[in-house]
Amino acid sequence: MAKMRVLSGIQPTSDSFHLGNYLGALKQWVELQEDHDAFYCIVDLHALTIETEPALIRKRTLASAAQLMALGISSKKSTLFVQSQVPQHNQLGWLMECMAGFGEASRMTQFKDKSLKFGTDSARVGLFTYPMLQAADILLYQADCVPVGEDQRQHIELTRDLAGRFNSRYGQTFTIPDGYILKTAAKINDLQEPSAKMSKSSGSESGVIEIMDTPEVNAKKIKSAITDAGNEVRFDEKEKPGISNLLTIHSAISGNSISSLESEFGDKGYGVFKSAVADVVVEYLRPIRQRALDLLEDEKFLVDLLHEGAAKARIVAAHTLEKAYKNLGTVA
Ligand code: TYM
Repeated sequence: MAKMRVLSGIQPTSDSFHLGNYLGALKQWVELQEDHDAFYCIVDLHALTIETEPALIRKRTLASAAQLMALGISSKKSTLFVQSQVPQHNQLGWLMECMAGFGEASRMTQFKDKSLKFGTDSARVGLFTYPMLQAADILLYQADCVPVGEDQRQHIELTRDLAGRFNSRYGQTFTIPDGYILKTAAKINDLQEPSAKMSKSSGSESGVIEIMDTPEVNAKKIKSAITDAGNEVRFDEKEKPGISNLLTIHSAISGNSISSLESEFGDKGYGVFKSAVADVVVEYLRPIRQRALDLLEDEKFLVDLLHEGAAKARIVAAHTLEKAYKNLGTVA
């Protein structure tokens, strides 16, 4: 039987991915490549919706590839590629823009949040049309499954709606994808502001654990994480958001259940628990960071690998785009 298809994407918007990216999405990318036909995309075009510099885009795209490989994405098991090398993304993106309603696009919370933060005058049109490009990313590969964090749920819903609308107007063209969103770890929070998600654009640098930071920096950040009133280590997102976030992180990395961690650390106090979380995270990330640094030494290897991935991706993408145009009635 043919394998199910998985597709996901990540923006190369910083020098390092953070622990939220990893636990919310990338860990699942690595697992799913084992028994799925996996396509993973570094979405550099999406990253252009905010101000950027040519040298940075290049550096961060290569750093993204190195980190993905260091985390366990294998070019033998997955097709890893850069979005801008597969022009069909923009082409299908336009068709998706023509399927989406203005009101529907205006309800996307990511656009609402960012345009509120920076002002509608400085928000780019690309930020507004971003979710339709994301829908194209997914639908081009006829993906069954899209592993993402909780913050992408609305984009996946929109993708499903657009695919269903296209199929019912123009005939069966796209697979309707399902989001693959974990129950735990789908939202890892900022260590200094545990009610807000850990984020690249977050205000607090000390609240974000970066994969490429040194073990010393990360240990310090975890040991200085904001904790809650009291001293009992117990999972309670409302009363104890800081400790609950750390329990989620420890559990996702160590594989120990939250309840076993509660029994182990319940009455030991926050200091002992935070040191244990720091040890688990730091020792886990140490070899990953080193592998990524080693991979970054050989830029040609990374560039060639991404070219190979794009060549494979273009074949699948071209096939879907052709089908979409044909069903729409364009003259071939
Ligand atoms: P991006 O680049 O912001 O994040 C990449 C992935 O990391 C997840 N994530 C988190 N998960 C848990 N806790 C957090 N604090 C956290 N922060 C980020 C995100 O949910 C995401 O899965 N729009 C997408 C990129 C994209 C895409 C796609 C994704 C473009 N095309 C097609 C899937 C399929 C984004 O901005 O992710």
